[in-house]
Amino acid sequence: MMSKRIVSIGRYLGGKVRLARQILPYLQQKCSLYSEPMAGLYTLGLNLYHAPLRCGFELNLRTHNLLVQIRDNAADLIAAINASPRDPLTLDLCWLQADDPLEDARRYYWVSMATYNGGGTRWNSGVTKGRSRKCLRHRADHLWAVRDRLQGVDLFLGDGLEHIPALDTLGTLHYFDPTYHNSVRGAKDKRHADPQASLTRNQYAFETDQDRLLAVVSRMRGAVVVSGYPNLYYADALEGWKTVDIKALDASRQPRTERLWLNPQAWARLPQFQLELLQCCN
Ligand SMILES: C[S@@+](CC[C@H](N)C(=O)[O-])C[C@H]1O[C@@H](n2cnc3c(N)ncnc32)[C@H](O)[C@@H]1O
Repeated sequence: MMSKRIVSIGRYLGGKVRLARQILPYLQQKCSLYSEPMAGLYTLGLNLYHAPLRCGFELNLRTHNLLVQIRDNAADLIAAINASPRDPLTLDLCWLQADDPLEDARRYYWVSMATYNGGGTRWNSGVTKGRSRKCLRHRADHLWAVRDRLQGVDLFLGDGLEHIPALDTLGTLHYFDPTYHNSVRGAKDKRHADPQASLTRNQYAFETDQDRLLAVVSRMRGAVVVSGYPNLYYADALEGWKTVDIKALDASRQPRTERLWLNPQAWARLPQFQLELLQCCN
């Protein structure tokens, strides 16, 4: 079901590339539809191709477009990325959105490659010498594997919290990877107070409406797995769910605990041998 190598597009705010190997065992269960209502770069979905149907929702137009271009237009996109100039000024200009979807995907890919991550887990627009050096020899040929894994995936531009209840059945499996609850961020972080303003500060991620998230996940009939940092709001709203803690490093390379919340349906569906293995390893 899962290959040894994690297939991913690359760096992304809140992206799960480093944690994928530890999260995937909790998502390896039979389902009629696998959904990621907050897709980002769809890292987990790329590595779960057992589901007969897969879908993802994303509010950020540029993120959604990058996924669609990789799925539908990989040859042109990979060629354009590989032929791109890599000087810091050109890389910085990639923040500007392009009208042409292919050109915008090329630019947005370089945004994620070139910009640095720090200062309260924000992505900033600056291109450091270190990151631009890393870009010099970078090629995007790994996107061929991503293209293959995206075939047949329905990628929707829109609010996953609004649309996912209509797709929910007893047989579905939903992996919610929202932006972090503000209570686990630094005291000065005001992203949640004005989500639109935070986007103009060159952040990728649309803020998740946490109250709506908790209301939606609590009503799902299918299996649900939610990712986040431990916090009192989730503990209260998701009482009775199983939790699994994963040791991780945050964007500033500080040790953090990433927690998964599994509703009773998700926990019950994990094969017994897998549960025993997971319990002895965690
Ligand atoms: C933590 S990131 C997901 C990262 C992803 N798992 C990966 O590995 O790349 C959360 C994403 O959800 C998006 N988002 C937040 N709220 C959303 C909503 N209600 N509907 C759809 N997308 C949403 C953000 O724009 C962001 O791209």
